[in-house]
Amino acid sequence: MDKFVIRGGEPLLGTVRVSGAKNAALPCMAAALLTDQPVILENIPQVRDIQTTRNLLAAMGAEVELGYGRAQHRTTIHCAKLNAPEASYELVKTMRASTLVLGPLVARCGHARVSLPGGCAIGARPIDLHIKGLESLGARITQEHGYVEATAERLKGAEIVFDKITVTGTEDLLMAATLAEGETILQNCAREPEVADLADLLNKMGAKIEGAGTPTIRVKGVSKLKGAKHRIIPDRIEAGTFIIAGAMTGGDLNIAGCDPSHLNALLSKLHEAGVKTKATSDSVRVMGDNPFTAADMSTEEHPGFPTDCQAQFMALTTQAEGTSIITENIFENRFMHAQELVRMGANIKIEGRRAVVRGKTPLSAAAVLASDLRASASLVLAALVADGETIIDRVYHIDRGYEHIEEKLKGVGAQIRRIGEMFPKKAAAVK
Ligand code: EPZ
Repeated sequence: MDKFVIRGGEPLLGTVRVSGAKNAALPCMAAALLTDQPVILENIPQVRDIQTTRNLLAAMGAEVELGYGRAQHRTTIHCAKLNAPEASYELVKTMRASTLVLGPLVARCGHARVSLPGGCAIGARPIDLHIKGLESLGARITQEHGYVEATAERLKGAEIVFDKITVTGTEDLLMAATLAEGETILQNCAREPEVADLADLLNKMGAKIEGAGTPTIRVKGVSKLKGAKHRIIPDRIEAGTFIIAGAMTGGDLNIAGCDPSHLNALLSKLHEAGVKTKATSDSVRVMGDNPFTAADMSTEEHPGFPTDCQAQFMALTTQAEGTSIITENIFENRFMHAQELVRMGANIKIEGRRAVVRGKTPLSAAAVLASDLRASASLVLAALVADGETIIDRVYHIDRGYEHIEEKLKGVGAQIRRIGEMFPKKAAAVK
């Protein structure tokens, strides 16, 4: 398993460019299942979850081209015919977002068999609301042997109110509703920018969607969707991660190719903590030339503070003067990074959904373990300011959602390198 070796103490200086949003690319790739015409997506990030989704769609019979060279980070997905409308446990267990194929498959093929995702490091993460919504649209659902089977001759539009706000639940049902007979009204929807980006693509494909990005989305079902070309929005979580990195290292970092309007809650919280930033229409510059102070933060659904930046914000508060209380309202177990930060010298006490961080504490290098995607980002941030050389193991977690993060950080002055397995298997085989 690859590791990162990071020597702390370097301020990040210069410009880093943000990639396309993983959490917009995943539902947009699933949307290609809804048509027998090719769908072209640009600004696709080169991360593991995209490769996993490519494999998932190809296993169903889709033709998926994925090019990162001059092809502008582009994928062309052509689901002319789908001979196996299912998502196997082997694939779903590596990426729970595979459940995003459930709605499109039922809508397109009238049948879907998708492995239940099981829990993950940050929580139980059930998909009961996806299932309940599909049943409201007329799908017959059975669950056995760890799989969900859904069938419907043709889905019928309905009024659906989500019991809880769910991002991929909203996306799954939005996709299903585009081919349902009649009108569907989805209420208490997720308002994340990635939902609106998916709706943009679906409308380009001929869907009739209004209200994406607000709590109520209206969909007039159509009988067929066509191919389209779409550029994925920038990754606001990657942008937020780099903004925090610039602040923590006392650097002067320009985060280019992002959309600051997706970052209002994060930026206002950082300003409250004394971090200085300047935004243009497509970039944020962070000037870390002054000490920052403690700030309390609670994660909320968008447009509130994003849970996907909670771990990174916690790393920042270890370097802030004073006590910060961080409340994680979205997931029940999303403080796995805290103990690793404590091993580096942070002062953090976990009390249920609350973490009490007392700063500023100097951090010292240690051997630490990444547990999930955003926890690993938080350890990278801590390592960038720690005294000495930190070794982060299991960086495959970070490769799921950050494109070439070590190259990007090196490009703005970080002392970071990736080390592969000490003795690659093939070499070990040669005696
Ligand atoms: C999406 O996950 C993101 N993933 C997550 O990003 C993100 O953390 C999360 O939204 C919250 O913003 C993708 O978009 C691929 P939810 P999702 O359904 O849709 C409960 C990352 O780091 N819930 O909005 O799975 C659930 O347990 C990843 O990039 C149900 O109870 O999250 C949670 O407590 C991590 N029943 C809350 O709702 C359901 O049927 C929000 O979950 C669905 C969800």
